[in-house]
Amino acid sequence: MKTTVIGAGAMGSGIAQILAQAGYSVAVYDTKEDMLERAKTKLKNTFDALVAKGKFTKEDAQKIIERIHFTSHLRDAEGSKLAIEAIYENADAKRSVFRILDDLLPKDAVLATNTSSLSIASLAAGIQHPERVIGLHFFNPAPVMPLVEIVPCLATSPSVVARCEAWVKEWGKVGVVAKDTPGFIVNRIARPFYGEALHLLEEQWANVATIDWALTEIGGFKMGPFALMDLIGNDVNYAVTETVWKQFYYDPRFRPSLTQKRLVEAGWLGKKTGRGFYEYGEGAPVATPTKDVALAEIIVRRVLAQLINEAYDALYRGVATAEDIDIALQKGVHYPKGLFLWGKEIGLKNIVNSLDKTFQETGDMRYRVNPLLRKEAGV
Ligand SMILES: NC(=O)c1ccc[n+]([C@@H]2O[C@H](COP(=O)([O-])OP(=O)(O)OC[C@H]3O[C@@H](n4cnc5c(N)ncnc54)[C@H](O)[C@@H]3O)[C@@H](O)[C@H]2O)c1
Repeated sequence: MKTTVIGAGAMGSGIAQILAQAGYSVAVYDTKEDMLERAKTKLKNTFDALVAKGKFTKEDAQKIIERIHFTSHLRDAEGSKLAIEAIYENADAKRSVFRILDDLLPKDAVLATNTSSLSIASLAAGIQHPERVIGLHFFNPAPVMPLVEIVPCLATSPSVVARCEAWVKEWGKVGVVAKDTPGFIVNRIARPFYGEALHLLEEQWANVATIDWALTEIGGFKMGPFALMDLIGNDVNYAVTETVWKQFYYDPRFRPSLTQKRLVEAGWLGKKTGRGFYEYGEGAPVATPTKDVALAEIIVRRVLAQLINEAYDALYRGVATAEDIDIALQKGVHYPKGLFLWGKEIGLKNIVNSLDKTFQETGDMRYRVNPLLRKEAGV
C-alpha cells in the first residue's frame, strides 16, 4: 500500500519509519530540503543502531529504508491510501495541506492528522470529503511509543475509524478511540500530574526534589513531574496546559501555573537549556529530597485524587471507554497502573474525601468532584 507523511520533523520522520516497517511504501513530503535531509540521516542512523543491536538484519533494514521516498513535491502523494499530516501546529497550514490532498488522493483515501491540540472538526471543515478526515495522534518518539489515539470528528465515517483501528494494530501499536475534545485522552487526563505538583510547590508543601521523590518512590511513577516537565521542555508543557485550559473555556481544573510561566519567561526551559526546575550539566548541584513518608503520602494522594477525578470526568463525558482510558495512560505516559483500578485500590471514598477536603481548604473549583466519581464512591 502506498502512504504519505506530510512533515519530516520529529513526528513525521518517526511515523514514516513505522509505516515503512509495516511494509508500506511511504512518500515523506516537506517544504524544507534541510528537514528532508535531516530526516534521511536520522533514519539511516536509527537503522544502523537497530542493526548493531540485532533488531534487524542489514538486508531488512535496507529494504525498509528503500520504501521511504523523501520529496519536496506534494504531488508524489498521488495514489496514497493513507496520508498522515505532521506539520507544525497551525490550523490554516494543516487545512491547506488537507485541501490539496483532498483533490489529489483517491476518494477512499484516509486523511489523518497528528495534531495534539487542534480540533479534528476544525481541520476537516471546508474540504469536499470531510468524512475521511481523522486524528491519528502518535506519541514521541513515535516508533517507540506504543499508543495511538484514534480521533474521529463529527464528520468522520465509521468505516474510516474501523480502517484506522485495523491499521494501527497492523503497525504493532495500541489504538484507543477518543472523542474530538481538547487534549483527547492522555493530554487531558495527565494534566493534573503536572498541575497538582505545581500547586503543591506553590502552596509550599515541599520542594521540587521532594515532590518528585514522593511520586516516584511512593507513587510508583516512572519519573517525577518536575523532572518530566524539564525533559519535555517547560515551554512545550506550559503551552499544552494553556491550550487545553483555553479550549475548556478557562475551566480552573486546567489552569496553568504562574511558577512554570516564570520559568518559561526566564528561558529556563529544562534539560535542553541546561536549567529548568533542576540544573543540568557538569558541576550542577544535585537536589536532595526530604524523605518524609507521611508528607509523601499526602503529595501522592493529592496528585492521584486529581488524576482519578479527571479520568472519571473523561468517562462521564464519553471521551473514551474506561478500558481505553486505562490503556492510554499506561501506554502513552507509562503510568504504572490504570487510573480506575488505582482508584478502586485506594478506595473511591478516600479519593472523594481527599478532594472535598482540599476543596474546603482552598475554595478552588479545580477540586470539585466529578458526579460519576461521587456516585460510584457512594458519598
Ligand atoms: N513533538 C511531539 O512530542 C508531538 C507529539 C504528538 C503530536 N505532535 C504533533 O505533531 C505535529 C508535528 O510536530 P513535530 O514535533 O514533528 O514538529 P517539527 O517542527 O519537528 O516538524 C514539522 C515539520 O513540518 C514541516 N512543515 C511545515 N509546514 C509544512 C507544510 N505546509 N508542508 C509540508 N511540511 C511542512 C517543517 O518543515 C518541519 O519539518 C504537530 O501537529 C504536533 O502538535 C507532536
